[in-house]
Amino acid sequence: MKNVILLGAPGAGKGTQAALICEEFKVPHISTGDILRRNIKEGTPLGVKAKEYIDKGALVPDEVVIGFVESRLKEDDCKNGYVLDGFPRTIPQAEALDKVAHIDMAINIDVPFALIVERLGGRRVCKCGATYHVSTLNGETKCKVCGDSLFIRDDDRPETVQNRLKVYQEQTQPLIDFYGKQGKVVNIPATGTIEEIFADVKKVLE
Ligand code: AP5
Ligand code: MG
Repeated sequence: MKNVILLGAPGAGKGTQAALICEEFKVPHISTGDILRRNIKEGTPLGVKAKEYIDKGALVPDEVVIGFVESRLKEDDCKNGYVLDGFPRTIPQAEALDKVAHIDMAINIDVPFALIVERLGGRRVCKCGATYHVSTLNGETKCKVCGDSLFIRDDDRPETVQNRLKVYQEQTQPLIDFYGKQGKVVNIPATGTIEEIFADVKKVLE
């Protein structure tokens, strides 16, 4: 399996597709958002610092995120490939990554903004990491994996979502060009179902 980056706006479905890729190809799913949220929950110094930014829909400073991703990539389980979800998110992060890793492919999960607002508005998550959309839950409020109660992510409030989308356009979208120039971008139109999108993703990875 390759070293893969998932690009795409907030709510495009990066986490959903990353989980499926990692299950299929048995590689680690490295989500900077998940790592930061775990630190917030545990009240670590990193979590305390990150919370200020995440709650506003802003990006956590580059040097903070680059530091923990670099050490994560040195772990043994990354030797046979990995999926980076939510990193890099700025040009300086991508440049830092290029110095320590060889990225084979950047998959762009391409979804129109209108659909994103609807995906984020209906997202329900569990602390075990499982993610759902209300439209598929049929009123169920517990996690199908672990039985715990589902909740709405703090940064999925409408005001925060607008800011996240703005930050995405200004700071993250330029990465499509950055990896495009390296000939590594694969665009996956992602308005279909989760399964349809995964079938396309799988094809480009095989
Ligand atoms: P992060 O956790 O990375 O959030 P994000 O990029 O905003 O992306 P999301 O996790 O919201 O969406 P997703 O694309 O994973 O979509 P999902 O699969 O859940 O980052 C959060 C914050 O942390 C940032 O704002 C920032 O502050 C900080 N941060 C993180 N990384 C950083 C970095 N590198 N540098 C600096 N700061 C950083 O799907 C969304 C919903 O849609 C779900 O309900 C899902 O069930 C549903 N869905 C998915 N696919 C489909 C489909 N095909 N059809 C219908 N519904 C679907
Ligand atoms: Mg995610």
